[in-house]
Amino acid sequence: MDISSILQGGYQHPLSRSWQAKQQLTKSMLMYPIFISDDPDASEIIATLPGQRRWGLNKLELFLAPLIQKGLKSVILFGVPQSCIKDSRGTPADDPSGPVILAIKKLRSLFPSLYIACDVCLCEYTDHGHCGLLHDDGTINTEPSVSRIAEVAVNYAKAGAHCVAPSDMMDGRIKSIKQGLMDAGLGNKCTLMSYSAKFASSLYGPFRDAAGSAPSFGDRKCYQLPPTARGLARRAILRDTAEGADIIMVKPALPYLDIISDAAKLAPDHPVACYQVSGEFAMVHAGAAAGVYDLRTMAFESVEGMVRAGATLILTYFTPEFLDWL
Ligand code: PBG
Ligand code: ZN
Repeated sequence: MDISSILQGGYQHPLSRSWQAKQQLTKSMLMYPIFISDDPDASEIIATLPGQRRWGLNKLELFLAPLIQKGLKSVILFGVPQSCIKDSRGTPADDPSGPVILAIKKLRSLFPSLYIACDVCLCEYTDHGHCGLLHDDGTINTEPSVSRIAEVAVNYAKAGAHCVAPSDMMDGRIKSIKQGLMDAGLGNKCTLMSYSAKFASSLYGPFRDAAGSAPSFGDRKCYQLPPTARGLARRAILRDTAEGADIIMVKPALPYLDIISDAAKLAPDHPVACYQVSGEFAMVHAGAAAGVYDLRTMAFESVEGMVRAGATLILTYFTPEFLDWL
């Protein structure tokens, strides 16, 4: 055998195996998505998202304190309005007494070291369930969508969010949000994380159940990217960096590792985030329950693949488990 044939000498020990990674997974790379109900006492199991709940404001302290004790550094909030009146422009999104704005304020005061990101979208709050405002024919009306999204983002930032993360996929919203933050004097106080390459995926089902955000007609294929569209994803990443995004996100994660790798190359000076979405999480759980693999081993393999592809920030429902495992 040739000298160059022998690779195994380099990874025969757990420690030497760990040195094979360019980047190690750490607790601070994890951001935990949480659902905030407008029922202040809610603690509702979400059937399709194992272990996750819709939490009321009064439950947040007991729910999060132990996780913060274990090293939780950041969360991303999703509002679940269950008793509000939805309308065509998503008015409840930034209701000062709605779940997201109240949760930001409460978490800032309960846990001063916790980094609080907020998803910004209208689909949870519009009567039609789409992520923007619509023309009469049901197509997206881009300009008013963008100004409304920016208004909501700025209101979350004013309430104290450390990061706003628009997931709506309207063209031009990054620039408009960045300008809005600057005009409000918050340009240097709030991170703008763009869901830049967000694909029209089958993997959002459990989330839409959890958040009540499924569209009442049609689908999101005219604003979320076609799953085959590597070129569009690359253009969206470049556009959003040029429009002022501070962090670039790819979503979903596991079927789109090539896009994560593209993002790391196209935006080498930005953090690259990816979102292991609800359906991916449910898939990992379902496979484990079916005896296909061990849950923990597969959770690591999936997330380490994302890190290997270039992600430096991972949004995952496995965060509480990883805080125990890491
Ligand atoms: C809202 C939004 C969605 C997700 C994050 N923000 C759903 C969608 O676009 O339909 C999905 C997250 C997940 O599945 O965990 N625009
Ligand atoms: Zn949406």
